[in-house]
Amino acid sequence: MKTKTIFSCASCGYQSAKWLGRCPDCESWNTFAEEAFSEAASKQPLLRQSHSGGPEPVLLKDVEDKQSIRLKTNIGEFDRILGGGVVRGAVSLLGGDPGIGKSTISLQISHQLAKSGLKILYVSGEESVQQTKMRGERLGAMQSDSIYIVNQTDLSLVIEYLKKIKPDVVIIDSIQVIYSPDISSSPGSVGQVRECANILTQFAKANGISMFIIGHVTKEGTIAGPRVLEHIVDTVLYFEGESHSSYRILRAVKNRFGSTNEIGVFQMGEEGLSEVKNPSEIFLSQRPESSAGSVVTSVVEGSRPMLLEVQALTARSSFGGYPARRSEGFDYNRLSMMVAVLEKRLGLHLENEDIFVNIAGGMRADDPACDLAVVMAIVSSFKDKPVKRDVLLIGEVGLSSEIRSVSHIEARINEAHKLGLQQCIIPKNNLDGLKGRLKQIELVGVKNIKEALEEVFV
Ligand code: TYD
Ligand code: MG
Repeated sequence: MKTKTIFSCASCGYQSAKWLGRCPDCESWNTFAEEAFSEAASKQPLLRQSHSGGPEPVLLKDVEDKQSIRLKTNIGEFDRILGGGVVRGAVSLLGGDPGIGKSTISLQISHQLAKSGLKILYVSGEESVQQTKMRGERLGAMQSDSIYIVNQTDLSLVIEYLKKIKPDVVIIDSIQVIYSPDISSSPGSVGQVRECANILTQFAKANGISMFIIGHVTKEGTIAGPRVLEHIVDTVLYFEGESHSSYRILRAVKNRFGSTNEIGVFQMGEEGLSEVKNPSEIFLSQRPESSAGSVVTSVVEGSRPMLLEVQALTARSSFGGYPARRSEGFDYNRLSMMVAVLEKRLGLHLENEDIFVNIAGGMRADDPACDLAVVMAIVSSFKDKPVKRDVLLIGEVGLSSEIRSVSHIEARINEAHKLGLQQCIIPKNNLDGLKGRLKQIELVGVKNIKEALEEVFV
């Protein structure tokens, strides 16, 4: 067997003949690791099978519509981001930081699917069968008599169990611990992870098994991250959330059977993850009564508008020190830009102020439509004047302090109306585009920050 070595990026799987400090593809640093690459690896017996014969071409119009077979988990948020339930025979990747809740939700899904009579195999490579049972008891998932669990990391044995048990759904927790001795690179490496996932995927597809592959997002270059697998699978779901917050967002970044960028909001509690059906209400519920520096804005995730609370605090920096700029949930570079616009265009003296921006509930405001709210929160805290309580602020801020139009304006306004806000301050261009629609709530169009400032304070 001829063996050579190759360097692969653990974050995205990019391969190179020599070691690189920074990946040219995903731009991560220090993620390249050397691994043995044997040409025999691509000639796995399991892989070869699929080449023999193979299906004949058929007319596109005659193709059977297998997609319509959806297995409902009855966890509404989860079914929704998948596009209406788990597709039979589809392979999904469930990625996220360690400890964020991947195993928890997988067990909850197993429980729900088992309730509707489906057979589940949970391959737990990280936790013992007893540990998973204890977790299952907390989640109330123990009553089911069709969830099988096995603690195994050897790929060929996992395939054996799949053949023997013939489950409807299999969960691989996690792909980074699964290895095949036939592949020369070390367990957890890009080569192993990719090859094992490939073999499992082919087996699942050939047998109509729906598979969930769990992958930890890793920071070091020694273990391959889930991005390496994104192109192999049908659906890619990522769990996001700040470690200090109990809210978790499950985001579909790729979906061959539905729309991408759909999100589901969950909350981690004593009994596992529960759905948050009305996120806006929860994120706004703890807003302080008329306090300076607190403003409501909206983000649109997939097709879903959500209202968020932006908080800002400005405080005199200690004498001679370099002013601090901190941001949780809002892009740091964008914050610097907003501060520069306020200093230069509005003459605000922020150069000796520490500025802190926070998106309440551990959420992220990555939408440019949040700019105006961040700017107003900073001014409100700086001037110590509270902003009107029931107003929504949306607009992208440009470098000459102009307010630029944003996407999904109607969805955002409707959400504000639904939550009982009284007024929306929106870009003038968006207001003109509405041509008098959405009269149920007061709309004010603004062209620049100055105009917005005239409107927002109590
Ligand atoms: P877990 O699903 O094990 O994370 P992952 O598989 O993504 O690594 O989640 C572990 C965390 O969740 C752990 O910190 C404990 C917490 N947790 C709860 O708060 N409530 C629960 O009911 C469960 C099962 C876990
Ligand atoms: Mg886990």
